[in-house]
Amino acid sequence: MKSAGAILAAAVLFTAACNNATDKTEASSQTIKAGIMKTDWGEADGQRVSLFTLTNAKGTEVKISTYGGIVTSFVTADKSGGKSNIVLGFDSLSGYLAKPPYFGALVGRYGNRIADGKFTLDGKDYHLATNNGKNALHGGLKGFDKVVWAASVASDTVPSLTLTYLSKDGEEGYPGNLNVTVQYTLTDDNELKIEYTATTDKATPVNLTNHSYFNLSGDVSKGILGHSLMIDADAYTPVDTTLIPTGEIKAVKGSPFDFTTAKPIGRDIDSVPGGYDHNFVLNSKGNQFAKVAVLSDSTSGRSLEVYTDQPGLQFYTGNFLDGKFTNRDGKAINQHAALCMETQHFPDSPNKPAFPSTILKPGETYHTVTVYKIVLQ
Ligand code: BGC
Repeated sequence: MKSAGAILAAAVLFTAACNNATDKTEASSQTIKAGIMKTDWGEADGQRVSLFTLTNAKGTEVKISTYGGIVTSFVTADKSGGKSNIVLGFDSLSGYLAKPPYFGALVGRYGNRIADGKFTLDGKDYHLATNNGKNALHGGLKGFDKVVWAASVASDTVPSLTLTYLSKDGEEGYPGNLNVTVQYTLTDDNELKIEYTATTDKATPVNLTNHSYFNLSGDVSKGILGHSLMIDADAYTPVDTTLIPTGEIKAVKGSPFDFTTAKPIGRDIDSVPGGYDHNFVLNSKGNQFAKVAVLSDSTSGRSLEVYTDQPGLQFYTGNFLDGKFTNRDGKAINQHAALCMETQHFPDSPNKPAFPSTILKPGETYHTVTVYKIVLQ
């Protein structure tokens, strides 16, 4: 545990550093403490944006922007000692202001879809901003991925960045002032740990996640269909044509959705119209923090283990990527260039009473942890 004094001291130091940085108009970088660098990254919404670089003892490096809490870069070693970036992203803020489909984003207030952008809570009807046909997706028109978060650096020995944001009552149609804290930590075991905390003053749905698109080869032109994947889920939630769950919890056994034993992602994908974009019902059921998925790429020797305490995992094979965006290395981001494994509660839970509840009430604390861990085979 960090002492309150230590946090305060770090926050004071950090604020002083921020004040210096905002005086300058050109990009500038400074070391905040061992393993954490801060770069002035431009402006969004009339606010200065910073990019933080977290580096661990193994030389793994993760960059996070205060705009959208976005993980812009994740550079790790491969089995031959080379290094590459295993997430889609851009080197400049302008790339993100062009609204790519949630590359690396911190998604909220409600990750994934809410049918027709509406729900009823405690007898009251709520109407959300709709931004995906008739549905609400990933928090609406201006979700948590498009706002500027306040940042602070705790005086831990492990590089760690804390982001906070107050989502006001009525924002994008959601009830209640929601105070959100997201802490990113990069451990020396090559784990990117994401800890989400939130409190509210009115009952509201909350479902926070991270939308990083991974390609463990580092080469988006190779795509991810050759990666192998295990998901510890005996069931998934089938969807309608607008990707809203039908409400059924369906066994994966004997279907293309069976990833209980690792298999290449491309093996059965042609039998899934549009590709995988489904919520898997994790066997850990949100009751415990568990390893729920393992993604592997044999050429680089990298595996990515996903740990969470959430009941669901949205496995999305980048079906809507269409070459419109170009990765930082100049390569076109085409369909299946990368994939997402979004730890979450099930889509449309506010309208599906049989799904685990996503309602946070005043006096309660939303708290969940997800870890993405890189392992070399
Ligand atoms: C959804 C996809 C959507 C994508 C947006 C994923 O979480 O499941 O349907 O297209 O986010 O980039």
